[in-house]
Amino acid sequence: MSIKVGFEYLTKDSMFAKDDFQDKVNEIHKMIEEGTGAGSDFLGWLHYPSNYDKAEFERIKAKASEFIKNYEVLVVVGIGGSYLGAKASIEALNGLFKKNGLEVIYLGNTLDPNYIHDAINYIKDKKFCICVISKSGTTTEPSVSFRILKTMAEEKYGKEGAKDAIVAVTDKEKGALKKLSTSEGYETYVLPGNIGGRFSVLTAVGLFPMACAGIDIDEFMAGFQDGEKEYSDPDLEKNNAYRYAVERHNLYNLGYNVEMVGSYEPRLTYVNSWLQQLFDESEGKDGKSLFVTGCTFTTDLHSLGQYIQEGKKILFETIINVENPNYDIEVPYDEENLDGLNYLAGKKLSYINHKAYEGTLDAHSRTGNVPNITITIDKVDARNLGHLYYFFMKACAMSAYLNGVNPFNQPGVEVYKKNMFHLLGKEGY
Ligand code: PA5
Repeated sequence: MSIKVGFEYLTKDSMFAKDDFQDKVNEIHKMIEEGTGAGSDFLGWLHYPSNYDKAEFERIKAKASEFIKNYEVLVVVGIGGSYLGAKASIEALNGLFKKNGLEVIYLGNTLDPNYIHDAINYIKDKKFCICVISKSGTTTEPSVSFRILKTMAEEKYGKEGAKDAIVAVTDKEKGALKKLSTSEGYETYVLPGNIGGRFSVLTAVGLFPMACAGIDIDEFMAGFQDGEKEYSDPDLEKNNAYRYAVERHNLYNLGYNVEMVGSYEPRLTYVNSWLQQLFDESEGKDGKSLFVTGCTFTTDLHSLGQYIQEGKKILFETIINVENPNYDIEVPYDEENLDGLNYLAGKKLSYINHKAYEGTLDAHSRTGNVPNITITIDKVDARNLGHLYYFFMKACAMSAYLNGVNPFNQPGVEVYKKNMFHLLGKEGY
């Protein structure tokens, strides 16, 4: 399948002229491929779909099957890039009510004692297993949660039993988590040193939790391979990821400072969060760049919709449109028609949802003068999702370089960490 990217809801003024950008895009493409740009030692994701570690991939599948057989709940411990991709994918593919594999819950993404207390309480009488993910192995939130969970697992299963119930995804050789895993004998998977957290969903970071949730990770990886092929040509007529990057860069230059990404599917809400992280952490530097935020329609049409339609013209929208739902439901006929809904009787919810999409697109872009970009996929499945992620990752690299920033570092994130360590009395801060 191919992702259809629609630019017809941009106005003539807001659409870029190909000739103005093609040379720059060629130059950046060469820089990405040759690894000569800022942060290029974090380009490991670029050709990972064709050169990933096949033996590790099989180990992931085998251990995930064992977990599915022996446990009820998987606790994924990680924060930011070390959990958002897994959560976004599992919700997108399994929906918001558990269907396949293990139930997956998340810890290590907060320091809130209430949430951690409730999560622990929820799993304490269930058969739970743990996947702890941290590239650095020293991030406070997951480290604290993991220490609590590890103690719980050892009390519940004994030291040997806990060892079987825990896997870790971390650096190949560095960091406290690697050291701990080796010393405890946990099964480990590698988050390659040349792939940053927000680009890591295609590694064990996304793959292991997804496999435990019963998702076909071969298909998911095949989607990334589709993307790797499809977005390999710098020609803006052929490469929609680059075209999208250039359009959003152009909109930013025209004064649109916010990109609202969204869809008409609550199961994709965490894909918005993944996109926010991908773009905001990659691009938000040097006092410039778009601010990416998310919405889920139609819910948010009843709140954010007012601002989008009539508020300050600071934003444009990028809407993911899914053509076919996995399930459909018909509106029933009602003899009395007290709610006046019989005009919709016999109509499918997908049809009604799609009319909301069409009506909103027109209202926002034509009436409200809010530029819209549409990204259409035929359905949400593992392959399409992998392809979609690669599309955005490639677009993000191009987009950040167009704006003159290093897409792969995050110096701003360090500032709060240092302050917190100082306040907590950590040695050296
Ligand atoms: O994308 C990123 O680099 C960050 O969001 C990290 O993934 C996040 O800070 C967690 O870091 P770590 O995996 O080292 O615990």
